[in-house]
Amino acid sequence: GPSNQESKELVLPPVLEGTPSSDGGISYTITAQEGNTQLKEGNPTQTYGYNDSFLGPVIRIRKDQRVTIRTENKLNTATSFHWHGLKVPSNVDGGPHTPIESGKTAELEFTVKQEAATLWFHPHPTGNAGQQVYQGLAGLIYIEDENYDNLAIPKEYGINDFPLIVQDRIFETDNQFNYSTAYSPDGTFGDTLVVNGTLNPYIDVKNEKVRLRLLNGSNARNYQFRLSNGNSFYQITSDGGFLNEPIPMESLQLVPGERAEIIVDLSSYSIGESIQLMEETVSVLTLNVTEETTEDIPPLPNTLNSISSGEEKETPDKEITFSGMGNMVAIDGKQFDMDRMDLRAKVGTKEVWKIDNAPDMMGGMIHPFHLHGVQFKVLNRNGETPPENEKGWKDTIALYPEESVEIEVEFPEKGIFMYHCHILEHEDNGMMGQVLVE
Ligand code: C2O
Ligand code: CU
Repeated sequence: GPSNQESKELVLPPVLEGTPSSDGGISYTITAQEGNTQLKEGNPTQTYGYNDSFLGPVIRIRKDQRVTIRTENKLNTATSFHWHGLKVPSNVDGGPHTPIESGKTAELEFTVKQEAATLWFHPHPTGNAGQQVYQGLAGLIYIEDENYDNLAIPKEYGINDFPLIVQDRIFETDNQFNYSTAYSPDGTFGDTLVVNGTLNPYIDVKNEKVRLRLLNGSNARNYQFRLSNGNSFYQITSDGGFLNEPIPMESLQLVPGERAEIIVDLSSYSIGESIQLMEETVSVLTLNVTEETTEDIPPLPNTLNSISSGEEKETPDKEITFSGMGNMVAIDGKQFDMDRMDLRAKVGTKEVWKIDNAPDMMGGMIHPFHLHGVQFKVLNRNGETPPENEKGWKDTIALYPEESVEIEVEFPEKGIFMYHCHILEHEDNGMMGQVLVE
């Protein structure tokens, strides 16, 4: 396990430099490629990455900005570039409808129409998302806006504001990943935690507030994060942006695809002290307090955002049922068919969707429900008000066995958008549908 591994300084993905254009737009190039990465003592691992050999850069963009992204596929197989959580037209969304063949490029253009948030990007080719993410394709998107500018929270990248892409992998002979042997139809699990591509990482920080931007970038594993001393921390964002207020938490669950930013307050720590972010009994990240801050650290703002609550309806506009396990997974009894439109919705119109996790003789399992093209609001879980940390913008949500979740959905753009289980092996096995927004 990772605890035998010597602790290494956390690898920080580079922040991608864009090329500004004279009219205020910005352009980026993202290349999917193969490479070798020294992840572990011994042999380097054959991996995939964006602009690098493993994972990808942070793309930093602003609300209202016009963005051009040139995507290049240097893999020897088709891929796609999906911007998870971004509200973009469907031709830009990068789902299974827009594969990029090996050796090809495509240019995307969109305007950022949403608030500050931590999103991510990853491949989404039909039947192959699991393998390509496992091999290393994933990167982060930071959206910033005026509200963000004005919030007194940690913002110094790599100093007190850290991205944490949390994944699990199996290192097989010669440290290689072998998706086909690691594969399970109910989700490919690893026995080793890898955070930004670092095994057993640490960071050196000051005795101040530290912001951790957590992404569950695993194919299938659910995480329960907590601090080693049992102290509470504050969750300040959900998938699509800031929560209305910081929520004190002692543990935080993230299912595959979900993000949350948390604040760990180290101001009462002395130099030489350490604390660990844990997942169950395994260390995710060690925070070493190595320096005294010279600044006055402000309290967290009481108000971070002003999201109104959604409106319930007598009867939901749509009801969707997730069912099955392994190769038998289905949505409304069907497996994905690109030629079949499963649902229709009206652009700019609020709808209530009820999503059920069907009863299962085997006991069932958690399916992370993800919807493209929107950020939605959780109205209730089994009719009960959702927990405080889910009262914000969401694009991915845990569906517990035999549970129903109601969400409020409003598509800002027309087109075809996917909804699916974010256990990538379930997605690849057809636990995916599409909604035509007109
Ligand atoms: Cu993060 Cu349809 O995916
Ligand atoms: Cu699933």
